[in-house]
Amino acid sequence: MTAIGNWLRERFPISGDQLRELTNEPVPNHLKRWWFCLGGTPAYLFVVQIITGILLAFYYESSPDRAYESVAFITNEIPYGWYLRSVHKWGATLMVAAVILHQMRIYFTGAYRKPRELNWMIGMCLLVCTLTVGFTGYSLVYEQLSFWGATVGANIADSVPVVGPMMKEMLLAGESYNQQTLPRFFILHAAVLPVLMLLLLFIHISLIRMQGITELEFDDEDDEKPRFFNFFPDHILTELTIGLVLMIVLSALATILPAAMGPRADPLTTPEVIKPEWFFYVTFRWLKLFSGTVAVLSMGFIVFVMFIWPFIDGWIRRRWPNSEFSVWIGILAVFAIIGLTVWEGAVAH
Ligand code: HEM
Repeated sequence: MTAIGNWLRERFPISGDQLRELTNEPVPNHLKRWWFCLGGTPAYLFVVQIITGILLAFYYESSPDRAYESVAFITNEIPYGWYLRSVHKWGATLMVAAVILHQMRIYFTGAYRKPRELNWMIGMCLLVCTLTVGFTGYSLVYEQLSFWGATVGANIADSVPVVGPMMKEMLLAGESYNQQTLPRFFILHAAVLPVLMLLLLFIHISLIRMQGITELEFDDEDDEKPRFFNFFPDHILTELTIGLVLMIVLSALATILPAAMGPRADPLTTPEVIKPEWFFYVTFRWLKLFSGTVAVLSMGFIVFVMFIWPFIDGWIRRRWPNSEFSVWIGILAVFAIIGLTVWEGAVAH
């Protein structure tokens, strides 16, 4: 054993102590409560998505002639194919929910403030990537809603002034949905976006390690006691417990509500009702409330404001140091998001 240890140490000249020093982040006490460490949940689900996604990709065929049949084959013929597909689908839903909850906790605890503004922006890129990976994923099944959802998405991109037509053409690999569209979605979904997310996650976690996690003050805290605990083994055990609970929830959802198949895509028949996945309800309702370009531009503006929010908030706090403006904006935004989502979910059109 020592011979192997020595051999490895010569090749990787880093000691156990150095490795521990690098990774053993001091964790503030409030992270003992699971709702403060919601960032680990999307990270865990991302790994689940990569593993189940690779297994699904062994059988998935990305041409419009074969895509629907290959998904049906995975669902009905491959041993445990239905389970893998259902875990992947529920994993996507839970991951989007977890990213949104994590972002809300960051927002309402002010953890995006100086010096973490750039990490908030990296987080926003992760949010956009998560939503885009969801959008491209639902398009891959090539059922009616996949096809028409992608077509509506491309038309929305088209209504952006100046660059719109180019964006639509880049997304669809042509002026309209064609033989190359699905392979393009597949490459975006299974290669470009996951690699980009890995890169962003690496920067996100490295920045957290360098800056540490924001310390929060609680009234019931004993000032005499240490304010931090160790990442190993204390925090990793919390994360492992969350991971175990998630795996049980995912398996239960996949078994009780397995992923089904809608009717095959028919480019000549527009369905009476076109609905995206629940996490796009808010965007969809917004687009219905305002007309084409106004809706898209206002949406772009809101996303831009979200991106640079730490700087806007910093400016507000410099002018009005005790203002609770950000909290009220946050509450308003949460109500607006829930309201628009429920509205879109409740109506047929
Ligand atoms: C795939 C998506 C994401 C993953 C896997 C992820 C992962 C993490 C993890 C593990 C932490 C450590 C603390 C915690 O668990 O809360 C964290 C902190 C943080 N995240 Fe994320 N995150 C993601 C998306 C986002 C988004 C969408 C935002 C905001 C736009 C964001 C902003 C931040 C910030 C500012 C911190 C530092 C918090 C602090 O210092 O207390 N992250 N993230």
